Amino acid sequence: MTSRETDMPRPGAAERAVGGNGDGRDAAPMPYPDRPDGSAGSIRQYRPDDQEALYRVSLRTGDGGSDATGLYRYPDLLGDVFVGPYLELQPRFAFVVDDGLGAEGYVLGALDSAAFAADCERAWWPAVRARYGGVSIDQGSADAWLLRWIETPPPVPDFARDYPSHLHIDLLPRWQSGGWGRRLIERLFAELADAGSTGVHLGVGRSNERAVGFYRHLGFTDLDGDDTTLWLGRILP
Ligand SMILES: CC(C)(COP(=O)(O)OP(=O)(O)OC[C@H]1O[C@@H](n2cnc3c(N)ncnc32)[C@H](O)[C@@H]1OP(=O)(O)O)[C@@H](O)C(=O)NCCC(=O)NCCS
Repeated sequence: MTSRETDMPRPGAAERAVGGNGDGRDAAPMPYPDRPDGSAGSIRQYRPDDQEALYRVSLRTGDGGSDATGLYRYPDLLGDVFVGPYLELQPRFAFVVDDGLGAEGYVLGALDSAAFAADCERAWWPAVRARYGGVSIDQGSADAWLLRWIETPPPVPDFARDYPSHLHIDLLPRWQSGGWGRRLIERLFAELADAGSTGVHLGVGRSNERAVGFYRHLGFTDLDGDDTTLWLGRILP
């Protein structure tokens, strides 16, 4: 994800967030609710016109793998933290699953987490901070922890020395359990390895047992953790 037009994030995202009706239920419905299951999809590189759809995927899978719509007063906050900067600064490592009617799942990678954090500080966070700077937030709300993240992003973990890349993966329910997660991860791993990465890490909520099982099945091992978050890693290739 690099800087573009006065360092602003992609148009539409946070503007909608701060301009929404504020009850967290203003995200538009998915555009193709009657689509069949994901059997007819394919994986392709991210395109800029996927951005809005990928923000929605992040919201609809953002509560430990379940729909987070309604948890957030500002529905684009999750995307502004976990989707937007990757699309903007590392598009080479963004892949989506699509059946021709629009993207409904993604894997997003950052090749070098330390360099990515520095790039975000230069070219992503300033505009996002400015956009959300004046909003009023209940300190106990789901929005509050993301606003704290935006204000003070967490440091790059020490284990990033051995596992320098990191990733996020989310699929809407109709695409889950059909092999698309594995295919997306394998596509990303190939791209990261081709770019010289020696390993990848990720954080997952301990309560998201399905995702933890998925990662372990794909060869990730425990790196660190606390009561709520588990850090996993895998050496590449
Ligand atoms: C987690 C997620 C990405 C997994 O993708 P998926 O498409 O459902 O998983 P796949 O069908 O590709 O499974 C790949 C393999 O992992 C295995 N697997 C999946 N979940 C597993 C589990 N909980 N325990 C053990 N194995 C598991 C599958 O059996 C399959 O095995 P195989 O390829 O050897 O036959 C997807 O379910 C998802 O997006 N969930 C909601 C959002 C989410 O939780 N994202 C992660 C946030 S950290």
